[in-house]
Amino acid sequence: MAKHTITLIPGDGIGPEIVAATVRILEASGVEIEWETQIIGAQALEKFGTTIPDTTIESIKRNKVALKGPLTTPVGKGFTSVNVGLRKALDLYANVRPIKALPNVECRYPELDLVIVRENTESLYAGLEHVVVPGVVESIKIITEKASTRIARYAFEFARLQGRKKVTAMHKANIMKLSDGLFLECFYNVSKEYPEIEADDKIIDNACMQLVMRPEQFDVMVLENLYGDIVSDLCAGLIGGLGLAPGANIGEQGAVFEAVHGSAPDIAGQGIANPTAILMSGILMLRHLGEMDAADRVEKAMMDVFTEGNVRTRDLGGTAKTDEFANAIIEKLRG
Ligand code: NAI
Repeated sequence: MAKHTITLIPGDGIGPEIVAATVRILEASGVEIEWETQIIGAQALEKFGTTIPDTTIESIKRNKVALKGPLTTPVGKGFTSVNVGLRKALDLYANVRPIKALPNVECRYPELDLVIVRENTESLYAGLEHVVVPGVVESIKIITEKASTRIARYAFEFARLQGRKKVTAMHKANIMKLSDGLFLECFYNVSKEYPEIEADDKIIDNACMQLVMRPEQFDVMVLENLYGDIVSDLCAGLIGGLGLAPGANIGEQGAVFEAVHGSAPDIAGQGIANPTAILMSGILMLRHLGEMDAADRVEKAMMDVFTEGNVRTRDLGGTAKTDEFANAIIEKLRG
């Protein structure tokens, strides 16, 4: 029997291509993994008549860990976001997104090393909207003491475990005095339990400017859901783009590892997508499983390919196909 059973959700668009490449690389590390493939989203709607089938949720709850490709969410009309639904169904309250530049990748800040901790269950991103009367819609922002305290604690625990020095809360409490005010109050209450870690805060608009101009002043950042969503893409841009930013959704019942980027329908099916972000999510997943040695080896193999710089995908100015890039990493792993 394999040592780990992991739920695998290939996803839509480029998802199956980058997930398959990542599975090959992770397996080449020698970690024994049995993959339990599940579907979700549009594919599940067609097959089971629901976007989030119970079988998929049960599989993740049973295995406690999933690797997931991006899902396509129709804009405007159509079903609501499956990613949001999945996070809610499993109460995956913390979204962790490391932002670290890779060798030889042209970017604004090659030395950057930040971590975004995004609250994953509340705020406007929860999509609680309704039509009040025709022509008027209401979108409800809910912020609770429980969720704000929980995410602040996660951010400080993460900082402590990783030996990081500072946690910054980003908010708009000057305008949304009650909702963002509560988020900020919970943040500072929790910070008292972590005297060795510096705690500060920045208003979100200023924070965005500071991130573009002087990002090295930040370390771990904690944000409510919608701000975290937007700032994640901004930060991905600082290190060279969306193809390079991994993510983990963590809760008590399980953890789902995925890239920050979406299903990239514009390049789907061509075998040219960059699998780096989902592979880095896979590396985070190996560490989450306690497979530190395999994680280090896969990371080193990937870094070596980047450092040599001969094999790179089209988004990074190269010509390598998804599989060629994966093969180069596998070759390094087999040494
Ligand atoms: P996107 O991230 O899919 O694509 C934005 C741009 O980045 C495109 O030009 C795309 O070709 C490029 N890109 C993204 N990932 C890449 C990769 N690995 N390699 C090379 N190029 C890459 O964002 P977009 O177009 O706004 O969304 C497309 C769909 O994905 C939508 O339905 C959206 O709802 C969904 N989405 C899903 C996410 C998830 O499942 N976690 C996250 C974000 C969006």
